Amino acid sequence: CGIVGYIGNQQASSILVEGLQKLEYRGYDSAGLAIYNDGEIGVQKYKGRLKILEDHLEKNPMGGSLGIGHTRWATHGEPNDLNAHPHTTTDGHIAVVHNGIIENYGKLTEWLTEEGKVFKTQTDTEVIAHLVDYFYEGDLIQAVRRATGKMEGAYAIGVISKNEPEKLVAVRKDSPLVVGIGKEENFIASDIPALLKHTREVYFLDDGEMAILTEQSIEILNELGQEVVKEPYRVTWDVASAEKDGYEHFMMKEIHEQPKAIKDTLSPRLNDEGFIEIDEFNLTKKDIEGFDKVMVVACGTAYHAGLIGKFALEKFAKIPVEVDVASEFRYRDPFVTDKTLFIAVSQSGETADTLAALREAKARGARTMAITNVVGSRISREADDVYYTWAGPEIAVASTKAYITQLVAFYTIALDLGLKNGSLKEEAYHRVIQELKGFPEKAEALLQYKKDIQFLADEQFNSTSAFYIGRGIDDAVAKEGSLKLKEISYIHSESIAAGELKHGTIALIEEGTLVVALATQDHLYDKMLSGIQEVKARGAYVIAMAKEGNQEIYKTANAVITIPDTFDELTPILSVIPLQLLSYYIAVARGCDVDKPKNLAKSVTVE
Ligand code: G6P
Repeated sequence: CGIVGYIGNQQASSILVEGLQKLEYRGYDSAGLAIYNDGEIGVQKYKGRLKILEDHLEKNPMGGSLGIGHTRWATHGEPNDLNAHPHTTTDGHIAVVHNGIIENYGKLTEWLTEEGKVFKTQTDTEVIAHLVDYFYEGDLIQAVRRATGKMEGAYAIGVISKNEPEKLVAVRKDSPLVVGIGKEENFIASDIPALLKHTREVYFLDDGEMAILTEQSIEILNELGQEVVKEPYRVTWDVASAEKDGYEHFMMKEIHEQPKAIKDTLSPRLNDEGFIEIDEFNLTKKDIEGFDKVMVVACGTAYHAGLIGKFALEKFAKIPVEVDVASEFRYRDPFVTDKTLFIAVSQSGETADTLAALREAKARGARTMAITNVVGSRISREADDVYYTWAGPEIAVASTKAYITQLVAFYTIALDLGLKNGSLKEEAYHRVIQELKGFPEKAEALLQYKKDIQFLADEQFNSTSAFYIGRGIDDAVAKEGSLKLKEISYIHSESIAAGELKHGTIALIEEGTLVVALATQDHLYDKMLSGIQEVKARGAYVIAMAKEGNQEIYKTANAVITIPDTFDELTPILSVIPLQLLSYYIAVARGCDVDKPKNLAKSVTVE
């Protein structure tokens, strides 16, 4: 979910709606506003996209200069008008927006019901409004503090009361929240893009901290109620990077930004002598030699980057690597020791599952590292070391440029570790770096073929099912390609190691089934050709991918996509691009909402 809040001397309504527009990537099941005006808090909230709220606001404008807003990704309670945020108390004197989950809301609801509070919704958020109300004795700050004292789980909340219309109170614990510093106006939001139109100066709240905003001031208190003095953070990136820039969708824009993202992530890590230097790390040679394994943990696309990371680290640094999805890692008593290098990968740096896994690994004594795209994010601040991927803000829900920079991160880390622990000879090390330097151009060249991929997509968009196959590192890329297709086109898709296909999944191949086969690995090429023949013999329509110059495959597959020639170990940075484009064009041809796929949110801040 996304939350915003405004207090100042302008009309809050349009500022809040504009803020929510920038946060819609966080959820779009419903949207709502609560604005204080003339002694009352007015609320408008509707199921569906923000646009529906906007249409209502046009007919029934809301005046007032203090307000909160919300765009929802449903957890508790189906997405409907009633369950939409903001939530208010029965008498309407308090309104709350919330991102996160209140884990003990059942118990609290029971207790407050006994105390005479009447609940209208099935959400866990309504309990916050009643809780604040319960403790309210004429001091909103005290009431919110006592309420949060009772709340378990993750939350970022914004609270207003009609009794104290000169303030907006916000608290965070394990869910993101930034405070925007304005002139005679101040803001809160789940993420920076919502604030950029108004300010570049922000405070990041730490866990348990409360911000009290008035038109003129921002006060930040810790859990004990003591004032905290914070340095404002100045956002340096541009508003334009959070705009569509002439592209029809953010996803397409972000696909096109990949050559630059590769460069921006790689260049700062190469010193003048051509060696990798990752300034952010303070891993000594001794630290590196002390690791007996690497554990990579992440969710979704970031997890798929981790699978490539395993290949890179094992190949270049000769260190065993385990990769796990964050939601599983924590609950299986993982074998992590003080000799483990734990790497959490997260575009947003705020995914609740990944954060929880990071904490678990830390508690077990691992050295922790984060690969993340968001400066100041929770995960970046809790890990011992941080590698920032300089992809710039990624808005489309389906990740593209962040993924590609995560790959660059893994390659540079693997090469660095490999050289330092003696697994990699300097000559080989330099050869790979030299090759990597050419990748922005190679990625750019690949984008020129997008019309061909659109053509294939236009032929295949009616598929009801797809299979992505590959061997070795191609299998890991196939998994990402398959996820992209599912996410944005809603076609059922599965990715299976090509060699494993014959042990079960091949039963599903029938006349016309779409199979995307990756055959970019020289040493596995012939084996892949046989795999392609096996599915073709059962009627599959095969789109194959190979490096330029491979002729055999044209005879076997129905259609071929080529990528520029490069080292086998590095192909994922290139091979994923046509797969992203294929999913994109198929989704467009099916009329899907590419940037905001149904049921998904870009960052899931609940476990
Ligand atoms: C959500 C998104 C995915 C993303 C995953 C991990 O589920 O829909 O696209 O890969 O979260 O996000 P993160 O920010 O941790 O990389």
